[in-house]
Amino acid sequence: MSIRDELQSTIDTLVQPGKGLLAADESGGTIAKRFKTIGVESTEENRRAWRSLLLSTAGLGEFVSGVILYEETLGQCADDGTPLPELAARHGIVPGIKVDAGKIALAHAPGDEVTEGLDGLAKRLDGYKKQGARFAKWRAVYNVSDMLPSRLAIETNAASLARYAAICQEAGIVPIVEPEVLMDGGHSIERCAEVTEAVLHEVFDALHRHAVTLEHMLLKPSMVVAGKEHARQAPAAEIAAQTVCVLGRTVPAAVAGIFFLSGGQTPEEATANLDAINRTGRRPWPLSFSYGRALQEPPLKAWKGQAANLGAAQQALIKRARLNGAASIGRYDA
Ligand code: 13P
Repeated sequence: MSIRDELQSTIDTLVQPGKGLLAADESGGTIAKRFKTIGVESTEENRRAWRSLLLSTAGLGEFVSGVILYEETLGQCADDGTPLPELAARHGIVPGIKVDAGKIALAHAPGDEVTEGLDGLAKRLDGYKKQGARFAKWRAVYNVSDMLPSRLAIETNAASLARYAAICQEAGIVPIVEPEVLMDGGHSIERCAEVTEAVLHEVFDALHRHAVTLEHMLLKPSMVVAGKEHARQAPAAEIAAQTVCVLGRTVPAAVAGIFFLSGGQTPEEATANLDAINRTGRRPWPLSFSYGRALQEPPLKAWKGQAANLGAAQQALIKRARLNGAASIGRYDA
């Protein structure tokens, strides 16, 4: 198969009406934080048990077309010895991989951050592909205040996202481009809209300069919302209107799909907001979910690290997946 056909076939499997993505790619530090909320220690065995539980959920493939994994998970196996990427594939779920190496402070730009991980990326992708990964994810984060993010942060992160995406496409791996405008802080929804528009504008400019084929990539943006500490939290209809307005101004119609992150919204909010977005009328791209916390929080609470709770946890996961599947086509009934 040519690289082009390979990319197209992955896109066709990932982008399906009524389906979204499960982000289960928490890094070591992040998964430890999530486990701490249920009093579970982050050992390799517990991480394996948790991620096998997620991927062995019967019927998950009905609402989830792809799963983003962390490097460690690619090499782990279910209890019966099936490699976890293969377990996902058996459920009709395409395995993907987080390839960025996390964020650090951006030099000479206090308060801004930049994502690392480009060195040796092409070689790493070869290895991930052999382990079954068909798509990748790279996350850039933008802190918001009256002054942040700086032009330098917007330009630097856009350049890295675009280089990453180009390297992925050359390797036959579909890139998910994730610029996350953080919800932390007291900024208004209008400020979030302004920052998101500037960020996405720069990201697509960089993608163009790096000759990234838009038909063979997915965008994973944050929704346009007020900062968590802002006094006024907008209702779903307003979040939807602001979000599609910004996306309409900045995202070319050629992009294969937009799969939102949940970014700290509650599971219920993330579903209601996605549904409201899909009720705003026809858009050039499918608008779906690529949720981490909004899909995993309820099953994590049900699991509590105990094998006896596996069934209850899987039921909680399938419930959120089903509701988000409905929201991705504007048919969620709260
Ligand atoms: P959240 O949905 O929890 O924001 O996670 C999505 C993700 O992949 C963040 O990088």
